[in-house]
Amino acid sequence: MAPISRLSLLSLLSLATAELTKVSTPVNVLAAEALLAEAAPVAASPSVTATCKDLEKAVPGQVQYSTGPLYAQETKNYWSAALWEEKPFCILFPKEPEHVASAVKVLNTHKGVKFAVKSGGHDPNPGHATARDSVLISMLLMNGTTYDPAKKVAYVKPGGTWNDVIGVLDKQGVTVVGGRLGPVGLGGYLVQGGLSFLSAQYGMAADNVLNFETVMANGSIVNINAQTDRDLLIAMRGSGNQFGIVTKFTIQTHPIGKVWGGYKIYLGSSNNKAVFAGLHDFIANNKDPKAAVIVNTNQMIGMSVYMVFYFYDGPTPPKGTFGKLEDIKATLDMCKSRTYADLLQFNGQGVAGLGQRTSFRSVTLPFLPGHADWYGEIEKTWWDITASFVKSHLTGGATIAFQPFTKAIASASEKRGGNTMGLKASDPHRFILEINFLWGNKTDDQLIWSMGKQLTDKIAAQVKGFNGAKYVNTAGVAAAQSYTPYFMNDASDDQPVTGSYRDGARFAALQKMHDPQGLWKRVGGFKYD
Ligand SMILES: *[C@@H]1O[C@H](CO)[C@@H](O)[C@H](O)[C@H]1NC(C)=O
Ligand SMILES: *[C@@H]1O[C@H](CO)[C@@H](O)[C@H](O)[C@H]1NC(C)=O
Ligand SMILES: *[C@@H]1O[C@H](CO)[C@@H](O)[C@H](O)[C@H]1NC(C)=O
Repeated sequence: MAPISRLSLLSLLSLATAELTKVSTPVNVLAAEALLAEAAPVAASPSVTATCKDLEKAVPGQVQYSTGPLYAQETKNYWSAALWEEKPFCILFPKEPEHVASAVKVLNTHKGVKFAVKSGGHDPNPGHATARDSVLISMLLMNGTTYDPAKKVAYVKPGGTWNDVIGVLDKQGVTVVGGRLGPVGLGGYLVQGGLSFLSAQYGMAADNVLNFETVMANGSIVNINAQTDRDLLIAMRGSGNQFGIVTKFTIQTHPIGKVWGGYKIYLGSSNNKAVFAGLHDFIANNKDPKAAVIVNTNQMIGMSVYMVFYFYDGPTPPKGTFGKLEDIKATLDMCKSRTYADLLQFNGQGVAGLGQRTSFRSVTLPFLPGHADWYGEIEKTWWDITASFVKSHLTGGATIAFQPFTKAIASASEKRGGNTMGLKASDPHRFILEINFLWGNKTDDQLIWSMGKQLTDKIAAQVKGFNGAKYVNTAGVAAAQSYTPYFMNDASDDQPVTGSYRDGARFAALQKMHDPQGLWKRVGGFKYD
């Protein structure tokens, strides 16, 4: 998911309310801050310089320095403007799996050198897809999607975004389980799990990957699938880059025609109760796996803005599909029947590349049938923590995305063999929070991070203290005993994601087995301990 920028919200809302058009968008402030963020000189250590030289020899013509033709574009191609400062010393642009294999062999000979692998650049955690003053491997040129109608699979290379993939497949009447916003990069999304509008029908995105063509730590290119190594296949689904660099995904396709969706905006805090009651009702009572929602709450300009993404896998949702949410009058309704490719493009408009700093933080929570007030309490806690910052910073924006993570999703995931989160059909309903911030000034980085942490700490303490019948999950188990693994795609680097997995210890052991020298300890991203 993505934070909703004030910029895009304002332009949307100005369609709906005359009042808001009086607030002029601080574009000049954005531009000034973006400029400020750029000037970071690149300084490399001798070992990094030597690594880049060796990469040039191993993969001739594909290594670029700060003056290279793709360097400037690629180091700007991140959702979070904070990452524009994380300039690598050199970037390798592999074109073939063999290029990646050669690079891995080079990296094995330079023990101390850190590096990172980048697909679409959606992850805002500094150091995950960036390698300041070091080596970045960009998958930009390893891109393209092809469809095999006989096998009902798509071959998807790791460079590019969901817009690219879905655009190609849509024309053939098929799709894959993938991103909800078109401009999100596909490589990181797929290796971290991936929550999709189609997940209640077909599981998480990674569950639908049948083969990972992967460059392993020893530099060999292997195909990982249920026949070659089932344990490793499951481990690949949700471990990030801890087993290797994927050079091609083979993904199960599913038929798709016209879908229905987009978003509706409900303006003002008076909508709070109804929107959250609708969310609660949807998680508890929705029986149609073709329907999905994401409820975003945004605090900007001293105003609450509810932006609810709706999806239905079919041209028109039957009346009542979205339950109580259907009773709320929207300030702005942008939902309609459209192609899936158009939907992803539409959802992504105005959320990517806005030149602001971005942070993600996440927590997975049990759905508590007796506690419909919880979402509003969480929202209030977040507004209390962030209010003074948001008021005093024109470009500041605090968001929470409430994402249903239902039994249907767990069940569909398990049916497909599952992933590292170890979801089970017997698990109770859950929901995932994605906590976002947008801001303009580097000097606020630490403050923003600490505000997010304050919120997740408070929620954790609250869950621990919950007792009584009201705080029992849908399996009848106390809230604090619920299995609530972190969702890697939305998490912050300091959160113990892999440690929260049911079988985390087993995957950690497998990781050590495939990476005895600890090559992937040096790559950006979430780790096994
Ligand atoms: C960023 O914050 C610093 C310190 O608070 C301040 O001096 C500076 O003017 C701010 N920059 C912008 C562009 O707002
Ligand atoms: C791959 O990426 C390059 C560079 O961004 C682009 O020009 C090309 O059209 C893409 N190819 C495919 C098949 O998507
Ligand atoms: C490299 O590692 C992979 C998996 O970790 C293994 O299957 C393969 O045999 C290894 N190759 C060599 C040459 O050791």
